[in-house]
This record gives sequence, C-alpha cells and structure tokens, in this order.
Amino acid sequence: MKAKFKNPRAKHDFQGRSCSITGVGSYVPEKILTNADLEKMVETSDEWITSRTGIKERHIAAKDEFTSDMAAKAAQRAMKMAGVSAEQIDLVIVATITPDMPFPSTACLVQQKIGARRAAAFDLEAACSGFIYGIEIAQQFIMSRTYDTALVVGAEKLSSIVDWTDRNTCVLFGDGAGAAILQHRENSNGLLTVVMGADSNKAGLLSMPGGGSACPATPESVASGLHFLRMDGKETFKNAVNAMVSAANDAMRRCDIDITKIKCVIPHQANQRIIDAVGERLKATPEQLFVNLHKYGNTSAASVAIALDEAVAAKKIQRGDLVLLVVFGAGLTWGAAVIEW
Ligand SMILES: CC(C)(COP(=O)(O)OP(=O)(O)OC[C@H]1O[C@@H](n2cnc3c(N)ncnc32)[C@H](O)[C@@H]1OP(=O)(O)O)[C@@H](O)C(=O)NCCC(=O)NCCS
Repeated sequence: MKAKFKNPRAKHDFQGRSCSITGVGSYVPEKILTNADLEKMVETSDEWITSRTGIKERHIAAKDEFTSDMAAKAAQRAMKMAGVSAEQIDLVIVATITPDMPFPSTACLVQQKIGARRAAAFDLEAACSGFIYGIEIAQQFIMSRTYDTALVVGAEKLSSIVDWTDRNTCVLFGDGAGAAILQHRENSNGLLTVVMGADSNKAGLLSMPGGGSACPATPESVASGLHFLRMDGKETFKNAVNAMVSAANDAMRRCDIDITKIKCVIPHQANQRIIDAVGERLKATPEQLFVNLHKYGNTSAASVAIALDEAVAAKKIQRGDLVLLVVFGAGLTWGAAVIEW
C-alpha cells in the first residue's frame, strides 16, 4: 500500500555531517572616532581610555548607513572567499542588538541587499555572544543535511544606542560587521564543539530598557534616556572573565585538548584587561591571543566575527589549525567554540 505521506526525517541510517567555515569577511564604516575626538565630547582622556580599556579608536557608521548595509558588505566578502553565489545561500542569520528596526528582521533586509532570494532569514539576539550562537544554530542545519549553505553575520550600529554624553559607556563601543559562510567541507572536522550559556539573574547588568513591549517609546521614556544602552561596568567585567574562562575550558574539555593545542584564541573584544585576565587564566600566550580592540572598540555581535576575518587575513590561522572563539555579552550570555580551520 502506498504510504500516506513521506517523512523527510525518517531515514534510520541518518548520519550528521561536519560543518566548516568556508569563507569570512568583515566591514567597518569609514569614519573613525579617536580618543582625542572623545576628549572634545565628554570629560575623558586618551590616557584614561587607553589604560582602562586598550581602545584607541572606533568606527562610526554614517547617518544613512544601517546595520543591514554593513552586514551585507561583510556578507559579500565572506561569499567571495567561499566562492558562493547569493543563489546558493539557504539560510541567513543576523546576530544583532541594533537591528535597522524592530521588524522586519535585519536578516530579511540583508537577504534583499545581497540577493539571496532562496534563503530563509531571521535575526538572533544574544548580544555580544550572538555570532557564536549563530554559528551553532547554522551548524545544526548543515549537520542534519537540511541546508547546504548558511550565512551568519554579526552586525551592529551601536553608535545609535550609545548615550554620547555618558563617558562611562560612550568610549567603549563602535560599529561594524563580520560574516561567515558555513558549509560541509570534505575531510575537515570544522566546528568541533560550541558551548553556549546564559544567566538571566544578571540581566540588569547590561541592557537597553526602552523600545520594547515593557517600555514602548513615549516622550517620557526618551527624555529619561531609556533608549540608551546602560551598564554596570565593574560587575560586567568580573562576570565576563569568569564566564569566558569557564566556557573556553568546557569547550576544550569536550575536545580532550588543552590550550597548547590551540593555534589562535579569538576572544570577544570588549576590554584589553578582560582579554588579558582571560588569557592568563587559560594560560594562553600573547602570541596565541588575537586582539584588534584598539582599532574598533567593542562591536558586540560583530566583534569576534571581525577578529576572525582579520586573523585569517593576517595568516594567523591556516587550514587544519585549531581555533578557540570565546565570547560574553548582555543577557548575560556567553559562548565558546573550538574549530578545526
Ligand atoms: C567600564 C570600565 C572600563 C571601567 O573601568 P574600571 O576600572 O572599572 O573603572 P572604575 O569603575 O574604577 O572607574 C572609576 C572612575 O572612572 C570614571 N570614568 C568612567 N568613565 C570614564 C572615562 N571615559 N573617562 C574618564 N573617567 C571615567 C568614573 O566616573 C569613576 O569616577 P569616580 O571614581 O570619581 O566615580 C570597566 O569596568 C569595563 O570595561 N567593564 C566591562 C565593560 C564591558 O566590557 N561591557 C561589555 C561587555 S560585552
């Protein structure tokens, strides 16, 4: 008797396949805002910013340049490296806390800008951890053979939610985008493991209270600055170090490796002192740690994606090397990935 339907998932001999990053790309806006520029805007100094954070400058998007524009440019560069056409892309995930607008999703706008008309598209919100959350989600579709080609982008226009009169936060952040194409590649293990975590007890440490259903925009909410990013810097710092060290160790333990097997550690670029503390506790050498924070500040979901692209361009990572990505962000959220490049 003919079956009533075919269950596409009913193959009992199903075996997952590995998922590799086959292309990376990044984009930062042209305009540079230096510490000297900030000295003219708030009561701060290059010395304070450099010694407390390691940041020297950050890139700021133009008024008419949006998160989707930066994401699309980074995506096109990643597609070029992977040799992938827009038609081939099955899935677009954009990790961001600064979407062009609440809806439609920035991923849909990127889909249109790059011409990936076949692709499913959605946004992912895990703050600075978004890119790692994104590659783990995309990997599930490649492993299960649901899709062949996924595009994951971390993109932010943080300059649009920063209070430029608040010296506690405005010196820390910048704009930009980083992208990766994920596919199965023969004879490569690709993403070996991805650790993801969250602790909502600490949701208040880093947030933007206004603009959602709890606090829609009103003249009062705008006047009270509820549409700006706010942060408890000291507590965030401590939590960042602990969560990143623990996630990185979990990821390496799962692969039965120690830090000496890792060629390049790419940490979330929030603060040089956080990176130093994480590096020290992981026993990573300065040569292993990739840092580009001085040029861009904290670009949230774009941060490790831009750093990964630059590490590849600088030939810090070669095919077959093991790479450790480790991130932390609002939520609180965190993540770590071990990748055979
Ligand atoms: C924000 C951060 C750089 C502050 O560094 P810190 O060593 O904790 O600094 P402190 O809190 O000791 O700073 C204290 C003083 O510096 C002042 N200060 C803050 N920003 C300043 C600035 N841009 N310029 C000059 N002084 C500043 C504060 O007003 C405070 O003054 P007070 O003691 O008179 O009140 C640090 O806490 C940090 O990076 N935290 C993590 C932030 C982060 O990464 N967030 C994103 C995570 S994804």
